Amino acid sequence: MQHDKVLILDFGSQYTQLIARRVRELNIYSEIHPFNKIPSNIEEYKAVILSGSPFSVRGDQALHPDLSQIRGKKPMLAVCYGAQYLAHFSGGEVAPSNTREYGRANLSFIQKGEPFFAYIKKGSQVWMSHSDTIKHLPKNGILLASTHDVENAAYKIEGEPTYAIQFHPEVYHSTDGKQLLENFLVGIAGLLQDWTPDSFVEETVDAIKEKVGNDKVVLGLSGGVDSTVAAVLLNKAIGKNLYCIFVNNGLLRKNEFQNVLNQYEGMGLNVKGVDASKRFLDALAGIEDPELKRKAIGNAFIEVFDDEAHKIEDVKWLAQGTIYPDVIESVSATGGPSATIKSHHNVGGLPDFMKLKIVEPLRAIFKDEVRRVGATLGIDPELLGRHPFPGPGLGIRILGDITAEKVRILQEVDAIFINGLKEWGLYDKVWQAGAMLLPVNSVGVMGDERTYEKCVALRAVESTDGMTADWVNLPYEFLQKTSNDIINKVKGVNRVVYDISSKPPATIEWE
Ligand code: XMP
Repeated sequence: MQHDKVLILDFGSQYTQLIARRVRELNIYSEIHPFNKIPSNIEEYKAVILSGSPFSVRGDQALHPDLSQIRGKKPMLAVCYGAQYLAHFSGGEVAPSNTREYGRANLSFIQKGEPFFAYIKKGSQVWMSHSDTIKHLPKNGILLASTHDVENAAYKIEGEPTYAIQFHPEVYHSTDGKQLLENFLVGIAGLLQDWTPDSFVEETVDAIKEKVGNDKVVLGLSGGVDSTVAAVLLNKAIGKNLYCIFVNNGLLRKNEFQNVLNQYEGMGLNVKGVDASKRFLDALAGIEDPELKRKAIGNAFIEVFDDEAHKIEDVKWLAQGTIYPDVIESVSATGGPSATIKSHHNVGGLPDFMKLKIVEPLRAIFKDEVRRVGATLGIDPELLGRHPFPGPGLGIRILGDITAEKVRILQEVDAIFINGLKEWGLYDKVWQAGAMLLPVNSVGVMGDERTYEKCVALRAVESTDGMTADWVNLPYEFLQKTSNDIINKVKGVNRVVYDISSKPPATIEWE
């Protein structure tokens, strides 16, 4: 089935992905493409949105899209840079703004009876973020809305389905932003709202069947949301021809290997658990440098996975849990800010010598959509709500060299912390939490004895994508109880600290 779809042309704004997500929340399928790579099947897109940009239309670095196949021919919404671009190059005027045009503003004027602003009232809050402003509208421009400081906040072009706004409807602070997008996409452009998790599951299962046929597929499960949802989708499509491998690298959380394996088996997946803890720990012995540790873990993973994949006779495909943000980052207009996140991808670096074709059933969807799809597939909500956990596991939370004893200590500490968060109803309020084992011994007293033992740091952060994060203000009573439990129950630890650094300048993992 073909869905109505929206083309979002990316001029490098930090909010471009948000536009796509907001459109998807309206159950309309959207795709992001760089502003200078208009897809050759442009006729298949029913509407176009131009994103904002870090550049100025007046500067040397201004980005120039070729809109000849779009403008006047399809409904087009130009946001921020897009709105300024239309004005600047079509007979209007853009100039640096005199007043600050960042943050909250309210619509002080809305053109009466204008379908673009249906259900939106004067006073509605919008989010501005620009240093240029539109002084004069382009030729045939009709003013649609203003704020106190920005007269030309929204306009349309007479005789064309072309709309432009200087504020950002995609951010949550624009309280009627979603309504505005709906007015444009449904009311004006006439798109159907038929992109739902159910339809996604149905179509993806069909597409996998067609692509893979009767071939065998191998997939590395991590216990995380993406690989699990990918596996369940594939399982629905090809059943026993899907061979899942779940590797115990010895750096998982306490009891994680067995628990997750049981869960997978309960879900009917054809999964093989491979306990390679010793192989990983041997490979890590004596290594202190964080990057070298990552390399050792990555290489050991590839070896184990490759060994196992070779045992599956005649396997042709490798399935991966790649999601849409990974895809967009690699084609982003300006290179994208997330180069470092990419290198994190633990299964992404499988070597070419495996000679497998790649199938990526989640390539088109965002993380929040992966969860919705997972729910539709009947996956346990607890599994879908799990905090992210890094591929190299506790290996990047043990500073200095890694030994079996240190892993045991950290597993105990981590379990007390995470179970505590659950018991206190705090787990879902935190984006990610974990403990770090520091290469520091300090003096303590226990009973009448002097101790000289390890220090652990607890870390709990709030974030949306891990790119930026802030520490969570956990209740003192919780921290007090957790610290007490850890020191009393975990032999080898006599000191607990709580990390109150944000990212940036710190990172989430200590490595
Ligand atoms: P940092 O420490 O860079 O972490 O602030 C950002 C987010 O990325 C996760 N992370 C990883 N995830 N494989 C992964 O799958 C990795 O190698 C990896 N390294 C870091 C980290 O847990 C946090 O959520």
